[in-house]
Amino acid sequence: MSKAKVLLTGGAGYIGSHVAKLLTRNGYEVIIIDNLSSSNPRKIYGKLYKVDLKEEKSVLEILRKERPDIVLHFAAFISVPESLEKPFLYYENNVGNTIKLLSALRKAEINNFLFSSSAAVYGIPDVVPVSEAAELKPINPYGETKVMVEKILRDMAKAQEINYISLRYFNVAGADPEGELGPTYKQPTHLIIRALKTAKGEYPYLEIFGTDYPTPDGTCIRDYIHVMDLAEAHILAMEYLLSTRESLVLNCGYGKGFSVREVVSTVKKVTGIDFKVVETKRRAGDPPVLVADNSKIKKILKWEPKYDSLETIIKNAWHWELKQ
Ligand code: UFG
Repeated sequence: MSKAKVLLTGGAGYIGSHVAKLLTRNGYEVIIIDNLSSSNPRKIYGKLYKVDLKEEKSVLEILRKERPDIVLHFAAFISVPESLEKPFLYYENNVGNTIKLLSALRKAEINNFLFSSSAAVYGIPDVVPVSEAAELKPINPYGETKVMVEKILRDMAKAQEINYISLRYFNVAGADPEGELGPTYKQPTHLIIRALKTAKGEYPYLEIFGTDYPTPDGTCIRDYIHVMDLAEAHILAMEYLLSTRESLVLNCGYGKGFSVREVVSTVKKVTGIDFKVVETKRRAGDPPVLVADNSKIKKILKWEPKYDSLETIIKNAWHWELKQ
């Protein structure tokens, strides 16, 4: 049997590009739709259509022409603080354009879909590590957009209008260990990237947003997952969906948390640079602790992370950063 044809929206972005590389390596044919709005890709794995998802007609034409077996939907805005400043932009792009994409999928009779969801759907979870069964109560518009799309997919799947797997990413970080790909955000807000850029001298200091959280050292705790392990989870999820047609929701994290202070000290250790850190007030929309219960993805997909180490994540990201 020939390998599936896979279409990625946002396949030129940070996570999508790593998945595209792994798909290509595994012999899949990769098609990409990306408007290149938030990334400056160095290398694209796949055939690129530079199209915005709001152009539903163009998207439908591509789907009809390429006839992918499955669509992996990465394209979205991803910044929690920005979503609080510009909520409509987030609802319009993350929800509105996903509805347009789903509408095109229906017209083209393509039924298999992988969705990039987020741990932000949990808000401040009652139990940590948080499992997929936990209540969804996001505390920022970004998380709301992911819940809304998940609800649409859940109802469509119930009515047999789609087969989907929703992957709830925890804090994705790191870069391709071979050094070809990495984060290319035009305006990075993520902790590890900002800390590395501070070490490099691009920013005068790194801010720590909030030191009075109910955590052992007072700073927020997150579950940082290496982007290549996340890419591997996509391949497994896709293969599972194509062979079983069973819709699922899966957490993607290591089940271990690190505080902001721990991340900062690991960045200093890996880079060997003691940069300036300024403790400042909390950033709006940040839950104190987000750590995944990953037993479901390990059991169902037999996912075995290969890069489960904060040092490795930061080393790979530093290697990439030094080449920028
Ligand atoms: N932080 C700082 N200083 C910075 C940047 C971040 O102290 O310069 C802190 C934040 O306040 C937060 C932690 O570092 O406590 C992590 O922040 P990030 O911006 O790196 O990531 P988030 O946890 O806000 O969000 C990320 C993704 C979301 C996803 C979420 C899930 O951006 O898409 O992880 O855990 F939903």
